[in-house]
Amino acid sequence: MKDFLSISTCTKDQLLELLKLSHDLKALYKSGGRDICCAGKTLAMLFEKPSLRTRVSFETAIIQLGGSGIYIKPEDIGGIGKREPIKDMARVFSRYVNAIMARTFEHDKVAELAKWATVPVINALTDWSHPCQAMADIMTMQEYFGDIAGRKIAYIGDGNNVARSLAFGCAKLDMKLVVASPVGYELDRESIAKANSHASDTVIQTHDPRSAVEGADVIYTDTWVSMGQESEVAKRRADFTGYQVNMELVKLAPSHVKVLHCLPAYRGFEITDEVCESDHSVIFDEAENRLHFQRALLKKLICG
Ligand code: CP
Ligand code: NVA
Repeated sequence: MKDFLSISTCTKDQLLELLKLSHDLKALYKSGGRDICCAGKTLAMLFEKPSLRTRVSFETAIIQLGGSGIYIKPEDIGGIGKREPIKDMARVFSRYVNAIMARTFEHDKVAELAKWATVPVINALTDWSHPCQAMADIMTMQEYFGDIAGRKIAYIGDGNNVARSLAFGCAKLDMKLVVASPVGYELDRESIAKANSHASDTVIQTHDPRSAVEGADVIYTDTWVSMGQESEVAKRRADFTGYQVNMELVKLAPSHVKVLHCLPAYRGFEITDEVCESDHSVIFDEAENRLHFQRALLKKLICG
């Protein structure tokens, strides 16, 4: 595995190995141990969109591994693919740094970087997918449930980048995912078919949040308005009426249900403050696990 662009192109064994390494390194660091396999190595961190979790967890991860992160805003380098072609950027970066992570609007930009870079490229969120998030989510589910095979995840809301990566992860790791979205906001059929090519009927699309949460081990939601969609905020908030994760919905699930949200959460819209603060919520463990997964990912990609 040179790059980490999409869960759909990883094997089940690669994902399980990364998850095991994430748990092992988490335990090591929690017990005061350190692994400085990336001493003297650098990670270029390109961000076309805002970020709290991804930026701070990646930078912390590379520092904890003994290396350094270089945060780069598009305006610092004249845009991604504007001042110079992405294929030139990728080859120049490859002469300086040991890995590149990028958060872009178009997924093609990250794919093009990976095509030309001779160092690993990591997808740190695109409009199409958010694989590091889904892996941290699955790591969190493993912590709460142990064996995750056969667990049911109910994703309530927009069939977006986060839902897509979750679909690929669930399918590869033998979980069931029901996506409940309003008409017009479903996960696209091609992605559902791609996920189900790994294990048939793993990912199911519905329009009914209430039936989706029946028997669910996890309820998951994300913002109704992703970065780049700000001009649609009023329409989206109207269209997603009835798709809020609130206590009434949570109570339709088994009492052991865990609630996940990739954050940032827009309380009062896709999720209520009450649910975020309830005993069902594991959103801060989930956010923490971004660090533990990405530390493992950097070790694997940079140090082998
Ligand atoms: N969940 C997530 O990726 O958060 P940021 O946008 O803050 O990085
Ligand atoms: N779907 C959201 C996720 C944010 C972490 C977005 O793309 O803005």
